[in-house]
Amino acid sequence: MDQRNTPLLTALRAHADSNPVPFHIPGHKKGVGMDPEFREFIGSNALSIDLINIAPLDDLHQPTAVIAEAQRLAAETFRADQTFFFVQGTSGAIMTMIMSTCSEGDKIIVPRNIHKSVMSAIIFAGIKPIFLSPVRDKNLGIDHGVTTRSVKKALTAHPDAKAVLVINPTYYGVCADLKEIVELVHSHDMVVLVDEAHGALLPFHDDLPISAMEAGADMAATSVHKLGGSLTQSSVLNVQGTRVNTKRIQTIMSMLTTTSTSYILLASLDAARRNLAINGQEMADQAIRRASQARKSINEIPGLYCFGEEILGTEATFDFDPTKVNVLVRHLGITGYDAENWLREHYNIEVEMSDMYNILCLITPGDTEESVDLLVAALRHMSELNYNIKTANELIVTIPDIPQLSLIPRDAFYGDTEVVPFKESAGRIIAEFIYVYPPGIPILLPGEVITQENIDYITEHVEVGLPVKGPEDRTVQQVKVIVETKAIF
Ligand SMILES: Cc1ncc(COP(=O)(O)O)c(C=O)c1O
Repeated sequence: MDQRNTPLLTALRAHADSNPVPFHIPGHKKGVGMDPEFREFIGSNALSIDLINIAPLDDLHQPTAVIAEAQRLAAETFRADQTFFFVQGTSGAIMTMIMSTCSEGDKIIVPRNIHKSVMSAIIFAGIKPIFLSPVRDKNLGIDHGVTTRSVKKALTAHPDAKAVLVINPTYYGVCADLKEIVELVHSHDMVVLVDEAHGALLPFHDDLPISAMEAGADMAATSVHKLGGSLTQSSVLNVQGTRVNTKRIQTIMSMLTTTSTSYILLASLDAARRNLAINGQEMADQAIRRASQARKSINEIPGLYCFGEEILGTEATFDFDPTKVNVLVRHLGITGYDAENWLREHYNIEVEMSDMYNILCLITPGDTEESVDLLVAALRHMSELNYNIKTANELIVTIPDIPQLSLIPRDAFYGDTEVVPFKESAGRIIAEFIYVYPPGIPILLPGEVITQENIDYITEHVEVGLPVKGPEDRTVQQVKVIVETKAIF
């Protein structure tokens, strides 16, 4: 196929150039019927392709023309048999891959540090999750990948499971031995689904971890918008082999997707695919070089640590993506959240994410030498102000153990509930999520038994100002739990 072509973008531009008289939505009609300030700001080019699934532009829900062709080109680029475009992020793609593989009552084997979209699919479909414990890094206070050994144990204990989901790489860029896991799971005749939200560049450079498609996985949900250069919310679901039913995937995708699909987002996927196909290797190469230089410089700054190859060599840290620059700041006596705020206030730098002990900075093809130098200079200044001045926060990081799941998440979510003070909820079964976003990994899931350890951990996060989310009570003072029926005497 000719990867220089952009069938969808080209069709959109041709349609806009022909200047048709529209009697269809969107009602702003090329911006005429909208707020003037927004119209001026966003510009006429963007508004001219803010279109809808009229005949010349195909339909994402049943593509046969330019969208189908754009998806075929993407499949070739991502080395998949088939690619589906998504306008509802990788969250939509993850929910589609799970719900097209598992039905009500089916089991799915998943790491506990899953994104909340995995749990949404599990709740909507009434699936039973079998959790794998990711390996915890007590020095960094983060979770890594799962081990092949834990997958093997889960497969032996649950030979009736339908699928195994793997995160490749984690938010922090660490990978398990995906190829080995895929071979193992396939030998049990199960499907491998991969959350590849942070892996859009993987297929394009040998120094990056193996991509899900190259490792032989059946499906992979990939955020092209996060690292591949398309617009926010645009993602792909890559599929290969004969274990999955592509017609079912199309149906589920359609059920979960708006009927008013954004052609701006779809066109950005088409264009990002062209750019990756032609320039992906060079784009990834530049990001890797800049990130490696940044890592080296940051590790020379007193009190800071940015992990690299030295953490590799265990089953759960089989490989890592060097473009994820995670900086451990706790030796400066500050939290990751303090560091995030300080960088914003003093250097106008926005990091990807912070937690108790770390800030995560993504070096992407969008970075320049200047942006990376600024980050390093800012971190050096932050160290000068804090290192050996503030008492180093040498707390041993305590991530609570994985809570016990005592109800199927859907039964808890839709069960009879009552609201109780969070601090007094130990021992109760929670009926809602509690997670820190970003990264959106749940600390408590519907159906799990709350422990005092969970309460302390969450309270500590709320107190330092980290974004704890999920409960209907946003202050996390109250929590919804399953009503307990007391014995009658
Ligand atoms: C590991 C992981 N999976 C899935 C997602 C969801 O991706 P999206 O924001 O494209 O819906 C995210 C988003 O941060 C993520 O970190």
